Amino acid sequence: MKVVIAGFGTVGQGIAEVIGMRQELFAKSFGQPVRIVGAFDSKSFVKSSKGLDPAELVSRKNATGKVGTKDIDNGMRELIEEYDFDTLIETTPTNILDPEPGYTYSMAALNAGKNVVTSNKGPLALRFRELSKAAAKNKVQLRYEASVGGAMPVINLSRELLRGEKIFSLRGILNGTCNFILNRMKDEGLPFEQALREAQEMGIAERDPSYDIDGVDSACKLAILANAIFGMDVTYNDVVRTGIRSITEDAIALAGEQKKVIRLIGEINKDRLEVSPRMVPSGHPLAIGGTLNIVQLLTDLAGEVTVVGRGAGRMETASAILSDILAILSDNQAKGR
Ligand SMILES: NC(=O)c1ccc[n+]([C@@H]2O[C@H](COP(=O)([O-])OP(=O)(O)OC[C@H]3O[C@@H](n4cnc5c(N)ncnc54)[C@H](OP(=O)(O)O)[C@@H]3O)[C@@H](O)[C@H]2O)c1
Repeated sequence: MKVVIAGFGTVGQGIAEVIGMRQELFAKSFGQPVRIVGAFDSKSFVKSSKGLDPAELVSRKNATGKVGTKDIDNGMRELIEEYDFDTLIETTPTNILDPEPGYTYSMAALNAGKNVVTSNKGPLALRFRELSKAAAKNKVQLRYEASVGGAMPVINLSRELLRGEKIFSLRGILNGTCNFILNRMKDEGLPFEQALREAQEMGIAERDPSYDIDGVDSACKLAILANAIFGMDVTYNDVVRTGIRSITEDAIALAGEQKKVIRLIGEINKDRLEVSPRMVPSGHPLAIGGTLNIVQLLTDLAGEVTVVGRGAGRMETASAILSDILAILSDNQAKGR
């Protein structure tokens, strides 16, 4: 399989390294290597049909700030359309007001008959229908396990292993930063602002934390899950959203008196598509601490199925992308390609 990596930041570099680390698995299971034949970031690109060395790409990026040796002139759309490769790994930044540049890159790849594996929430949370239609029309795969919860494999689990189940509802914690802040407020009696500052100092929250604390990130993920698992046709804008800015120490203490904790919960059922702070009994799986993500599915045969995992991180997110690459290779193998 020949892949091109779009975006070469934390996740792009992580998946390049993981592809390097798993060549034995690719050879043993599928009798072929996965070759990185191109990579680009916001300023530069590099390509070689013989394959590029992942370690060299990462070290050039770290040394020069550029993954490539050539400057980008007019974006990479033409390269994606015309260059000979099988799968685009799309890891450009999420933008929830405008799904670019990821949307254009992904559409160009799908319409040129190439699979897309993406970690980018923006295009999926705003244009899921268009992307899925393009994939179906061109008989290629659009896969996005990494876009929701890094290494919490809820999408592939639901769509593949739980394929025979009726899934009635989903509840979960989809943002580790909010969970960390709410937990610190409870454990240490900290006011919101102080818990947020602590999260920022530890690198858990961004300098502009609004995506996390206003529930935007969780709402994007919930929209993706609603489309992927429940077959809905929704965007980020359909999610009813309340963040955690207005949670006070008093509210946390009051919940504590009732042996409950406050968590930012995303919920999907036939009446609800909502992210909001909710009270959860202490000891309940959703009362999870730290920065972990968790999802509970309610199914007809298996009952309650719970998945927990790290929501972010270079290798954790690369692990989800790897699972999508392996799924495509397995599918090709089954079809004798
Ligand atoms: N980090 C995580 O743990 C995690 C987990 C799950 C999902 N995600 C999602 O995965 C995506 C990547 O995250 P990240 O943490 O790797 O972000 P990042 O470190 O900011 O990297 C983004 C990369 O995209 C490149 N880029 C920006 N604009 C571009 C353009 N117009 N054309 C081509 N490349 C462009 C950047 O180029 P420069 O290097 O030149 O600036 C950078 O290499 C995001 O959508 C994020 O939401 C991340």
